[in-house]
Amino acid sequence: MKQKLTVSASPRWREARIEMDFEGGIISRISKDWALIAAGNGGDYNAMTASWGALGYLWEKPIAICFVRPQRFTRSFTDTNALFSLTFFGRDLRAKTHKVFGGESGRDTDKAQKAGITPIVFEEGAIGFEEAIETIVCRKIYFDDFNSANFLDPAIEKLYPQNDYHRFYIGEIVKFYKKRG
Ligand SMILES: Cc1cc2nc3c(=O)[nH]c(=O)nc-3n(C[C@H](O)[C@H](O)[C@H](O)COP(=O)(O)O)c2cc1C
Repeated sequence: MKQKLTVSASPRWREARIEMDFEGGIISRISKDWALIAAGNGGDYNAMTASWGALGYLWEKPIAICFVRPQRFTRSFTDTNALFSLTFFGRDLRAKTHKVFGGESGRDTDKAQKAGITPIVFEEGAIGFEEAIETIVCRKIYFDDFNSANFLDPAIEKLYPQNDYHRFYIGEIVKFYKKRG
């Protein structure tokens, strides 16, 4: 059984400005450092590693996009919750965290317990992890599934041998939390 999600974010987390305070290059932060996509409510949640994602500006809002294949356990949480979050870890915890969150499923394992990290709830109800350094909170404003008929580069279809096209969620960035100190 997965531990219940009851821990509130500590005072070490402060609200920050995504435009100014998000460290480093945006593309490498997602593609090289990787993030956890998390969603949940009502005491339950799930999270998984992602290396595909986007941050940008759309419809007069700062936005993030995440991509979730249909077979991920996380998918039922990103489908049914209004918020999702992208959480980033420091160098010290990345390898261990993503080994578990990217290699195992929340269907079978309490991944947070196995990785030794603590799931937390920010005040608006978004899921984070106490040991992380940054969390972007997004309110879903659009979703869709990739349509292979629209792939213009044949290399893309090769990434889908099982036709398991990602669902993507565009989220308005409603909060950005950064760890103090
Ligand atoms: C580096 C890395 C990046 C990944 N990026 C994604 C991604 O962007 N989208 C996705 O659907 N799965 C991605 N995955 C796979 C999921 O993280 C993995 O299947 C995970 O075990 C799913 O967990 P869940 O079943 O608890 O949701 C990635 C895995 C790794 C190791």
